[in-house]
Amino acid sequence: MPTLADLTSRGLVYGGDYNPEQWERATWREDVAAMQAARVTMVTVGVFSWALLEPERDRFEPGWMDEVLDLLHEGGIAVDLATPTASPPPWLATEDPQTLPVDASGRRLHHGSRTHYCPTSPTYRERARAITSRIAERWADHPAVVMWHVNNELGTTCWCPRCAASFRAWLQRRYGTLERLAASWGTAVWSQRYSSWEQIAPPLHAPYLLHPAHTLDYRRFVSDALLELYRAERDEIRAVDTSRPVTTNFMGFFPGVDYRSWAGDIDVISDDSYPDPADPQAPVAAALTHDLMRSLAGGPWLLMEQATSAVSWRGHNVPKTTARMRQDALRAVAHGSDGVLSFQWRASPTGPERFHSAMVPHAGTETRLHRAVQQLGRDLASLAEVAGTEVQADVAIVFDWSSWWAAEEPATPTDRLRVLPQLRAWYRPLWEAGIGVDVVAPTSDLQRYRLVLAPQLYLLDDDGAANLRGYLDAGGCLALGPFSAVADGHARVRTGGFPVPFADLLGAEGEEWWPLPDGTVGLVGGDHAPAPVGHGQASVWAERLRMTTAMCDLRFAGGDLDGEPALVHSRDGRLHYLATIPDAGLLRRWLLQLVDRRGIGPTHPLARVPSDLEVAQRGPFTFLLNHSDAALEVPLRSVCVDVLTGSTHHPHVTVPRSGTLVLRKAPS
Ligand code: GAL
Repeated sequence: MPTLADLTSRGLVYGGDYNPEQWERATWREDVAAMQAARVTMVTVGVFSWALLEPERDRFEPGWMDEVLDLLHEGGIAVDLATPTASPPPWLATEDPQTLPVDASGRRLHHGSRTHYCPTSPTYRERARAITSRIAERWADHPAVVMWHVNNELGTTCWCPRCAASFRAWLQRRYGTLERLAASWGTAVWSQRYSSWEQIAPPLHAPYLLHPAHTLDYRRFVSDALLELYRAERDEIRAVDTSRPVTTNFMGFFPGVDYRSWAGDIDVISDDSYPDPADPQAPVAAALTHDLMRSLAGGPWLLMEQATSAVSWRGHNVPKTTARMRQDALRAVAHGSDGVLSFQWRASPTGPERFHSAMVPHAGTETRLHRAVQQLGRDLASLAEVAGTEVQADVAIVFDWSSWWAAEEPATPTDRLRVLPQLRAWYRPLWEAGIGVDVVAPTSDLQRYRLVLAPQLYLLDDDGAANLRGYLDAGGCLALGPFSAVADGHARVRTGGFPVPFADLLGAEGEEWWPLPDGTVGLVGGDHAPAPVGHGQASVWAERLRMTTAMCDLRFAGGDLDGEPALVHSRDGRLHYLATIPDAGLLRRWLLQLVDRRGIGPTHPLARVPSDLEVAQRGPFTFLLNHSDAALEVPLRSVCVDVLTGSTHHPHVTVPRSGTLVLRKAPS
């Protein structure tokens, strides 16, 4: 099977989206020369070129692309050749308006932007297959092409009558009979019992709340429909080329698609990452997303898009310093990316993205930004040996799309207990300590992890629950966060003392969810006062628990639940349940204590991690990112070599202000 390793035999990939169709031919030659100077190794071509490749139905105009591919090949630049199906040409929308998507109010959208396709439109699918097949046949043997890139950020949700019909067929396959659907969803509520399949529509705008099981299944259906679209194009490519990998670019924790269910179909997991330089939380969120991608890939993945500086789609677009650009790029590499690609090579003077940064800005190549782009190219070339190396993770964080979807439906006890903020809050202490983390499914094979964290796992189906219990039976250690294992796979609330699938193992049962009034309540020692993890504050969320055999680590102090347990663990110390949102310091102490008790240590050579230093270990390489405005002196346990300069360091290394170093243990 083709893999990312096919692309990285000579090192990390460097480049970006290249849209030569926006430029005169003279610029193409300049581009190739500038790419060589910047040590670009691969560009993604053709993402939005459908209207140029096929200006009218079945009139294929490949000549310009032949020239582009030849030029790039002569220049030694490889190509990730895209199918252009993310932006159908105006003639298609005009010819068949039903190729356009419909919103949740039933209004058909127009063309004039991009992603204006209905995933289930037979015409769109047929035309997408046709152009893909033409492209594959024409360029499968072109020596520049090293990878295929299907569509772009597949993710359009549509609510049209055609999708409604496909949704019904999907439900019929899933449930077989209306009786089974009624029982699974619980349609006895609000007179929602369906007496014929035809009555089931997508969850369109309605006067009041929609049924959460209906909405959940529609999200699952949309994810499957988009995957079918990917497969349709992939199959056209495979019909003529079995040797090059096929990818499609993901969007991190994107709510529209369950990427985990897609991962097995994608040869190279690739992702687009746009951390906001104005957001102090962005580095931790980006690192977690990179870990998700590496986990989906089961090894190295590819940063398919990032920005060299500002994007243009936020309200206020803060640019990146060149140091920041380098950090964002090398963080991805540290977390398993085998390359760095940007959107885009040359900044567009026209169109909606005319103010988006690029590798070559409007001001040209003699600029601060482009010099930094060249420097990054040199650095990545020096880091060639990083390609293919693995990240070791003894800790896993559980994340599941269905659970995320179900948890964030309206009409739950609170809309303030959000999945991603919880995930990031639990991930942060591990990230700060430089401890490797994988992001796994409830049904993943967990045996190799010494500690499994489920910060917010609202929905847990029976298979997931059995898998987590099996992990505990085999000697594992699981920490469950608040409001977890509440719903089953159909989003039905499990009845009994919660967390229902674990209450017997835990030795405690929850009776009531108790969102807290604004402000905080205290958290103090439980069975052992003072608490080994210290005291702190709880906010937003609490639960009323009744203990049977569990041990109590923390109790609420003050408020309605004064004296009641807030953090408990099973007698054997391997199942922990946190029934609240503690302050960041307390959460950190507790999680690091669990890490410590499980014998998990950092794999990096730092004797201590100073605050404001981000550290990540990949194979033998240690990445150090200084987030502070001052140089940081970092103590080392062993003699290390700076991979980029060759200098040796011990007993400490100084990371310059906003600087990034890559170290490797010196051979002894
Ligand atoms: C991505 C997209 C690119 C470009 C970029 C701008 O979502 O794939 O085509 O639009 O955003 O940041």
